[in-house]
Amino acid sequence: MLHNDVFEELMNEEELNKTVSDIAARINADYEGKELVIVGILKGSVIFLADLLRKITVDGCQLDFLQASSYHSGSVSSGNVKIVKDVTCNVKERDVLVVEDILDTGNTLSFVKEHLLSKGASSVKICTLFDKPGRRKKPVTADYTGKVIEDLFIVGYGLDYSERYRNLPYVGVLKSEIYS
Ligand code: XMP
Ligand code: MG
Repeated sequence: MLHNDVFEELMNEEELNKTVSDIAARINADYEGKELVIVGILKGSVIFLADLLRKITVDGCQLDFLQASSYHSGSVSSGNVKIVKDVTCNVKERDVLVVEDILDTGNTLSFVKEHLLSKGASSVKICTLFDKPGRRKKPVTADYTGKVIEDLFIVGYGLDYSERYRNLPYVGVLKSEIYS
């Protein structure tokens, strides 16, 4: 059953599982034999990342987290990105895969990518469950994308609106009266 504030289901549990498996298969093929460090962007990526990681077979891969802030509150992004929590793993000369819930304006991921490259990562690729290319402000593209979507505000499976709805087991479109 849908949460009252959700207008429509965008991806159910079965579709999420299939999407995550397809992404994992591509990552496994691309990173076999490499020194992979997976960096989850807190907090939105955690559910996606937990499911994805259990399908990753790259031997010796490491897990780390980074938290950036560009959202002041609600649904409006600002271009002013700060690192709230940095990675603790050494990323120098490692292949880094950044895992994010949704790529929107690109402000966060373009900043994070530059940041990890400046720490000496050999490569930095981006894996995002959702992508809203219509809202891009920075020239950043994802290397692995679950689903490209219209300019809708979505919640669930880790994605929040003002810290709510992360616990929903599906991804749904939030009713516009909730955030406008
Ligand atoms: P930028 O604009 O920097 O933003 O690419 C990325 C971050 O914005 C959040 N975001 C959303 N969160 N539903 C959400 O729950 C959405 O539809 C949405 N669009 C953007 C998200 O936190 C992401 O990390
Ligand atoms: Mg986020």
